[in-house]
Amino acid sequence: MLNKSVLHKLEDVTATLSDFFVRPPTQREADLAEQLRGDLRHLADASSNQLPFWKATCEALMALAESSDPRYFKRWQPIGSTMVARTTPYAIRNYRQLRRSPDWKNVWAEAIAVPQHGRAPPFLVDPRTDAITVQHATNLRHYESVTGRSLLSHDCVVEFGGGYGSMCRLMNRLGFTGRYVIFDQPPILALQRYYLGLHGLRADYATEGSIVLCRSLAEVAEFMQPGSALMSTWALSEMPLDLRAEIEMFLHDGRSVAALLAYQKHFEGVDNAAYFQGLQERSARDWTWHQAQIDPVNAYVVGSRREGMASRPEADN
Ligand SMILES: C[S@@+](CC[C@H](N)C(=O)[O-])C[C@H]1O[C@@H](n2cnc3c(N)ncnc32)[C@H](O)[C@@H]1O
Repeated sequence: MLNKSVLHKLEDVTATLSDFFVRPPTQREADLAEQLRGDLRHLADASSNQLPFWKATCEALMALAESSDPRYFKRWQPIGSTMVARTTPYAIRNYRQLRRSPDWKNVWAEAIAVPQHGRAPPFLVDPRTDAITVQHATNLRHYESVTGRSLLSHDCVVEFGGGYGSMCRLMNRLGFTGRYVIFDQPPILALQRYYLGLHGLRADYATEGSIVLCRSLAEVAEFMQPGSALMSTWALSEMPLDLRAEIEMFLHDGRSVAALLAYQKHFEGVDNAAYFQGLQERSARDWTWHQAQIDPVNAYVVGSRREGMASRPEADN
């Protein structure tokens, strides 16, 4: 099998060649780019509880949006290096598993095909999709294999740290009809609003609707609904510990019934293996947990609220 660096060089060459065919922005693209810049300027002095790594990432995003064409945002270093996956042996293996699944023809073949807004380097084995969408489809299949239930069957999904909005788009494409709430750093929420807009999906800040963008956990609590699945893949594991503690309180909110988490062993000096072990122990009275190693560094944690615990009053915990 080809190694990572050869695959990345091939991706870069293909991306450069495809740039020769780029057309001028449509009116819709231009309008969304203006909206993105407006949102980011409006947030210029907005700070959130974030690690220095993410503070620097958000500042770099804000500067790039002023000086560069956001139609290429997936190639911007702060975004490309944090939330855009590339063609790797791991991504190819996940893609092959999707293709071998009984649902490939009926479900995944169409759902993972995605217009390449943001112009990431192409996914070499199937340029109709991208490696992050394949990852997100794999996350959903893992959840279903553990719980026997599709994440789409929940009335509400609350995602803590939604990247540029890829999982939200995929869930929508798969036919999710419930409410999708995203909590993230304000500049990243602006990027989600831009990306989802390019796909014709309306996402607004703290406003009733099918996609709700939340800058604070108080807003999450306001818009979350009964029967919610909480999701945080490689995101809770990148947040400050005091913010994680506040987010854990949503496990004690009777409206949450399921959780899909994924983490890498270490982030910015934090031992995530120990943290996620602790999270499972702290909530063991009301939740059953299933942890599965993806590889030596990454793991999934899937949780279900124990029977009869769904309407527990918050004060009881
Ligand atoms: C590595 S990305 C993962 C994105 C997506 N969940 C995925 O699996 O592709 C980490 C996400 O966590 C968010 N995040 C990091 N620190 C955060 C903080 N302090 N508050 C809110 N969101 C944060 C980032 O903005 C980003 O959306």
